[in-house]
Amino acid sequence: MALDRKATPNDLNAFWMPFTANRQFKKNPRMFVAARDMHYTTSDGRQVLDGTAGLWCCNAGHCRPRITEAIQRQAAELDYAPAFQMGHPVAFELANRIIEIAPRGIEHVFYTNSGSESVETALKLAIAWHRARGEGARTRLIGRERGYHGVNFGGISVGGIVNNRKVFGTLLGGVDHLPHTHLPAVNAFSKGQPENGANLADELERIVALHGAETIAAVIVEPVAGSTGVILPPKGYLEKLRAITRKHGILLIFDEVITGFGRLGAPFGSQYFDVLPDMMTTAKGLTNGVIPMGAVLTTAEVHDAFMTGPEHMIELFHGYTYSGNPIASAAGIATLETYREEALFERAAAIAPYWEEALHSLKGLPHVIDIRNMGLIGAVELDPIAGEPTKRAFNAFLAAYDKGILIRTTGDIIAMSPPLIIDKPQIDELIGTLAEVLKTLA
Ligand SMILES: Cc1ncc(COP(=O)(O)O)c(C=O)c1O
Repeated sequence: MALDRKATPNDLNAFWMPFTANRQFKKNPRMFVAARDMHYTTSDGRQVLDGTAGLWCCNAGHCRPRITEAIQRQAAELDYAPAFQMGHPVAFELANRIIEIAPRGIEHVFYTNSGSESVETALKLAIAWHRARGEGARTRLIGRERGYHGVNFGGISVGGIVNNRKVFGTLLGGVDHLPHTHLPAVNAFSKGQPENGANLADELERIVALHGAETIAAVIVEPVAGSTGVILPPKGYLEKLRAITRKHGILLIFDEVITGFGRLGAPFGSQYFDVLPDMMTTAKGLTNGVIPMGAVLTTAEVHDAFMTGPEHMIELFHGYTYSGNPIASAAGIATLETYREEALFERAAAIAPYWEEALHSLKGLPHVIDIRNMGLIGAVELDPIAGEPTKRAFNAFLAAYDKGILIRTTGDIIAMSPPLIIDKPQIDELIGTLAEVLKTLA
């Protein structure tokens, strides 16, 4: 029987949905059946303006013809090639294209299939790198409170979102955390990078003093923390982290799964902030979210330390069946071409000031206790309902969906990250509708 893709299935029981209130959803499902450019179509035929680029990933908008065609062509020509001990040209070509837009100093690409896998890969690389150089005692990993680094064991160990960690046992040993940089008492309603908090990077010195630099492999942070509800780095903070890690021989990993591929108006957060890490983890916007793919980007220094020993030997015992999958690689190339041809990173930078003003016009509306923005990222933090955390923002999400806009919430924070093709009238629509929602919220 042919599958009617536009029909809503009448049994939703089998699919256990990720990061979803399953019982609430299945009583009142919200289904998308099509998408184009800035809009989704719902199963009841409504248009919904995408204020979140899917899950921070469809940076070029939806169903872009160049990407669709590249996938179709590649699927018909070379569907799969073994990822180990064999190659195919498309993955090599994509790696070169990524390096072309990466910060100078980043020279190698290790493919994964998701942000979570990129994080696991980078953490493993960090530990193995020190070992390869004769510093095998450097196994500790330092993350940050409220950090999000995906959902695998390494990622939740260095991550700092309590609900993502607390029911999963003891996690990785030898992990410590920097304090987060959310300081609403002194930074609320900052436009762009907040003034206060660079000194929080000095906590790394305290952690180094506690454990000894010779036991620490890497520090991992998101340049802009996204999934926790958008926390921005205070001015000077990332520069300090870089200086302290360098001083102590510790690798610095930027988790650029959200900030990569134009979200801030530069190819990567590293360029936006002008701070060069040793490794960058990416995914999402790499293929416009269309096909799962991630990549860890490294300096030559990281890569070259592994290229020793007999030439017939595998240098790194790590990789995935789908690393550099041909169809994902083709999607990646077409995505990067779309970004370049439409100058989408520049476009994001150009429209960011308008976005900032629109977003901050929500100041003063009921329950709004902070607004944060950078590039095409925005967050509106709401005062929680006493005794019912997350409910007010979730109600806002449901009301917004009914009114035709897609936003995301985490805790009592509304986060937005529209596709980089958004125009000014669409920003007005998104923020105007959100204002209406906020005015009617209990
Ligand atoms: C910074 C960061 N790292 C890692 C991930 C995990 O990516 P994935 O869901 O593709 O595993 C995310 C996802 O939102 C992210 O924002």
